[in-house]
Formats: sequence, structure tokens, C-alpha cells
Amino acid sequence: MATPQHDLPLDPDGDLGGNLDLTDPATMECPYGLYRALHDRDVRTLAVAGVGHWVGRMADVRDVATDTARFSNQYFGDDIRPTGVSGLPVEDDVAAIFDAGPRVRKALWMTDPPVHSLHRALVNRAFTPRRVAALEPVIRRIAHDAIDRFAERGSVEFMSEYAIVIPMTVIADALGVSRDMLYTFKRWCDDILAGNLDVLDHQRRRQVATSFVEYCEYFADVVADRRATPRDDMISAIANAEVDGQRMDLAEVLAATETLLLAGNETTKNLIGNAMLMLLEHPSQLAEVRADPDLVPNMLEEVLRYEGPVQCLYRLVTGDTEIAGTPVQAGSMVMLGWGSAGRDPSVFDDPDRFDIHRSNAREHVNFGFGPHFCIGAPLARAEARIAFEVLFERLGPIRLAPGASTAHVPTFATRGLQRLDLDFEHS
Ligand code: HEM
Repeated sequence: MATPQHDLPLDPDGDLGGNLDLTDPATMECPYGLYRALHDRDVRTLAVAGVGHWVGRMADVRDVATDTARFSNQYFGDDIRPTGVSGLPVEDDVAAIFDAGPRVRKALWMTDPPVHSLHRALVNRAFTPRRVAALEPVIRRIAHDAIDRFAERGSVEFMSEYAIVIPMTVIADALGVSRDMLYTFKRWCDDILAGNLDVLDHQRRRQVATSFVEYCEYFADVVADRRATPRDDMISAIANAEVDGQRMDLAEVLAATETLLLAGNETTKNLIGNAMLMLLEHPSQLAEVRADPDLVPNMLEEVLRYEGPVQCLYRLVTGDTEIAGTPVQAGSMVMLGWGSAGRDPSVFDDPDRFDIHRSNAREHVNFGFGPHFCIGAPLARAEARIAFEVLFERLGPIRLAPGASTAHVPTFATRGLQRLDLDFEHS
């Protein structure tokens, strides 16, 4: 995909006047022309109407992500209620749905140090290298089982039949969710994610609130069970972990498991889907990785840099301050452009070129940066690597199905395909 030109609405002083609309359909479908225009003009911060300040250069993104005192992850209230990012008052009937469910108090990703440091230490107990290594044969089995279901057909809707199946099954197993619940579980995740990242209308808020409460009630029972009878799974590790005599209460464990669900599924699915499309668009590089699976890990790093699943996340400004000389007010939001940083020409040569051999691809920040750096990065890397190893082992030449759409999910925060219809030959 060639990087499109983007006409920035700049006035003669290079000022955008807060006019940038990130919900423009063309920009959501492909934000890279915009990133390029901003990098070319050395625009370091940008007022985004209705949201806050955009920050998209690597050095600035890293600075903001590291400075938890000035830029906070606590932009939800004490109790977690995913109601969208518009800031509009919550309707009474939506509030009543939340009131009827268990309490969920912010944890881990929604906190700042020192609370965050404690939560991070507790959740780290569930992500030891031993536990991730032990999951590798399980991931391989899940990938083979998924392929068994479509191998004879010679065609597949890659996103729903393969890319999502691996992370969703792994995390469901890890959290002790029955595999029969997988698609319910997926609905909860999609709805809660929308409640954290998107602007929702009243009807959508009701749906999101209902999914959230269903999720909480289900997990409250699982947590009670694992506290009574711990097993060798992640949820037992999180629910029972103690650091300096402290452990999370139920409201915090629910928030931590919610983060694992949300942070781990769509992201890894989109890494696998985006990687597949990038390889199809670059056939000689696809042939190289097929011939030498040792190239898969760096290919995935390049996809994370070039077409990363997380394009931007938010921070709350704690006091009047400035970013790169631009004043930003207490209470306003900063948008951290992880995807834009991956296209920063001061870090990556020829950043709009996809190159699986790029030597510094791993300098991308698609797993975040600083204290909130993705806790699941080793697991996501293992899942995506094994997904491609098994795919290349099992399937012959793969191509886009005739007339297949490669449209993306219309959001600015994440990056993934709506669907990806493929045909393949038997190996
Ligand atoms: C390709 C896949 C993934 C990508 C691109 C990704 C990206 C990210 C990013 C950008 C952050 C930083 C958030 C911030 O600074 O506010 C993050 C945090 C986090 N991720 Fe991931 N993630 C992925 C997979 C996973 C997986 C598989 C899990 C777990 C099963 C996971 C669990 C988490 C958790 C718990 C946090 C919060 C850490 C904290 O606040 O200390 N992620 N991830």
C-alpha cells in the first residue's frame, strides 16, 4: 500500500488551528499520509478537536510515556465504567446498569506509581518466562486445530477463523474461561474495548454497560473459585499473588483481568492479520520468510513498527505544563501516537518502506514505553511467531481471494482489518 498524500489544513504559520479531525474516514482507513505530513513539517504537537493534544514524534512519545507525574493513566474515575471518551454525562439508565454489577476499581493500566508499581509486581507473577514458555506447545496445538477446521476448504476468513482464535483461546484458557464461552467472551471484549477507546452514543453505551456487567459477574465467580482452590493458571496467580503482604481486592482483580483481556486479544489478532496482509502485498518478502522461518521474528517487529495494532492511547495532563513548547492545560488529554512514532524518519530510514530485514525495527514503541510497557509482549510475540510457523508448515501458496476487501476497522486508536478473505493451496 503506497503512503497517500495528506493535505493538512495548515495556515501560513504552520498552525493547524485545532482543525484536525481524526474521525475522517479516509484518515482512519490510512493514517500514514497524515503522519508523514506531520513529520515532514516537524509538527510536534497538534490540537485535535474534541480530544486533546496529539504527540507523534518518537522522542516526545517516549518522554510523555515516561513522565507519569505530569501525564497520568488515571483518566477514568476511581470506579471503572467504560462509557466512551466523549466526556458527555452518563445517562441514568446506563448508570443503573453499572450500579447493579460488581464494583471494579481501577488497577494496573489505569493507575500511576506507586499503586501501579505494586499491581505490576503482582501481575508479573502471572507472566513469568516459565509460564510463557510452557504455553508454547499449547499455542502450537491451538494453531493446528484452527487450521484443521478450514484446511480442506482451500479458503479462509483469516481474521475470525485464525488470527483471533489463537490469542482468544490462549487468554481464555489462562484465565480459566471455558472454551464454550469463547464467542461470548469475544463480544464482552469488543464492547468493553469500544467503551475505553471510542465515542459512544446512548444505545451503544447501554450495550457496553451490559457486556461489562456480564463480564464482571462471570469473573467474580472465577476469582472466588481460584481463591478457594488455586490452580496452576494465570487467574489463580493474579488473585492470590502477594507482594509485601499486599494483594489485590476483588474490584482490582476484576480490573486487572479486564486489562489482560482487552490488551491481549484484538492487539495480537491485528498483529497476525496485519502481518499477513503486509506479506501478501510484498510477495518477494513473503517468499523469503516462507523459505526461512527464522526471519519471522524480525518480520513481526517490522509489522509492529510499520502497521502496528495500537496507533494511539491517552494520558491525562495533571497540571498546567508544556510539551515541546506548546502549553497544555491540566485536565486535558494527550494522545500518544505509538503508530506515528514508528514512522519517525529521525529513527527509521525511509520509514514508509516495509522491510523485514530492517535492523532497528525493534525500536518501535507499539508495545508502549516506560512503566506501562506491555506486560504481554513476550506472549504476543510467541503467539504471532507460532501462528506463522504453523501456517507456513501447513498451507501452500496463499493469496487474497478474488474481490477480497482489505478495509480496516474504522477507528483511529487501533489498526486492524475488518476481514481478510484468503485462498490457499495445499502444501
Ligand atoms: C501485538 C500485541 C500487543 C500490543 C501491540 C500491545 C500493546 C500495548 C501497549 C501499547 C501498552 C501500553 C499501554 C500504555 O502505555 O498505556 C500495553 C500494555 C499492556 N499490555 Fe499489551 N499489547 C499486546 C499484547 C498483549 C498481550 C498478549 C497481553 C496479555 C495477555 C497484554 C497485556 C498488557 C497489559 C496487562 C498492559 C498494561 C501494563 C501496565 O499498565 O503496566 N498485551 N500493551
